[in-house]
Amino acid sequence: MIRIRPLTPADAERFLELLQAVDAESPYMLYEPGERKSTPDKERARINWWRMAGNSTVLGAEAKNLLVGFAMVTGGTVTRNRHCLTLEGLAVRKTWRRKGLGSKLLCAVLDWAVKQGLRRMELGVMAPNAEALALYEKHGFTREGVKRQAFLLGDRAVDQVLMARLLPAGGSAFLIDKEKNRELEPLEKSPGPEPQ
Ligand SMILES: CC(C)(COP(=O)(O)OP(=O)(O)OC[C@H]1O[C@@H](n2cnc3c(N)ncnc32)[C@H](O)[C@@H]1OP(=O)(O)O)[C@@H](O)C(=O)NCCC(=O)NCCS
Repeated sequence: MIRIRPLTPADAERFLELLQAVDAESPYMLYEPGERKSTPDKERARINWWRMAGNSTVLGAEAKNLLVGFAMVTGGTVTRNRHCLTLEGLAVRKTWRRKGLGSKLLCAVLDWAVKQGLRRMELGVMAPNAEALALYEKHGFTREGVKRQAFLLGDRAVDQVLMARLLPAGGSAFLIDKEKNRELEPLEKSPGPEPQ
C-alpha cells in the first residue's frame, strides 16, 4: 500500500536518494543527473523549514520503506502573496509511474493547500514534458504564459509553460479517502464558492 504523508527530518537521507534518482530518470527535472550537490543535512534543514513555514510543505509517497515520489510547495513570504503557492517539484520514480501516484500526490498537496486556506497554486513545466502538462491539465491547472527558451536541454533551448489553478475557499473542497488512500473526489464536485 502507498502512503502519502508529510516528510519529517528523519526522511532526509531517503529524500535525497529519491531526488537524485528522479534527476537521473527524467530529462525534465531542474537538475541534470549528478548535478544536485546536496547532503542529508541540507535536506533535513529544508524539510524543517517546510514544516515551520506554515504555507509550505513537502509530501512523500511511501511504499513499504521506499520513498517513491514527492510533491513540494512553497508559499509566498509577504502579506500580499502568502496565499500563493509554487509547486516547486513533483516526481515519481520511473518504475512507479502510470499507476496514479502523480495524481495522488498532486491531489494531496491541493487538499493540504485548501485546508490551509491558500488560494492559488502555480508552477512551471518544460514545454516538451507532455506527461506533466497532461497531469496538470487533468487537475484543473490552466496555462497562463510561456517563458521562452527558459531552459537548455543540452544544446536545445526549450520554453517553460507557466500554469496555475485557483483554489476554492472554504477548506473542504478536496476530500481524501484516508482509509483507502484513493484518489480525491473530482474538483468539480467542490462545494466551496469559486474564488473571486
Ligand atoms: C509527471 C509525473 C509526475 C506523472 O506521474 P505518474 O504517477 O506517472 O502520473 P499518473 O499515473 O498519476 O497519471 C496522471 C495523469 O498524468 C498524465 N500522464 C502521466 N503519464 C503520462 C504519459 N506517459 N503520457 C501521457 N500522459 C501522462 C495523464 O493525464 C494521466 O491521467 P490518465 O491516467 O487519466 O491518462 C511523472 O511522469 C514524473 O515523475 N515525471 C518526471 C518528473 C517530472 O517531469 N515532473 C514534473 C515536473 S514539472
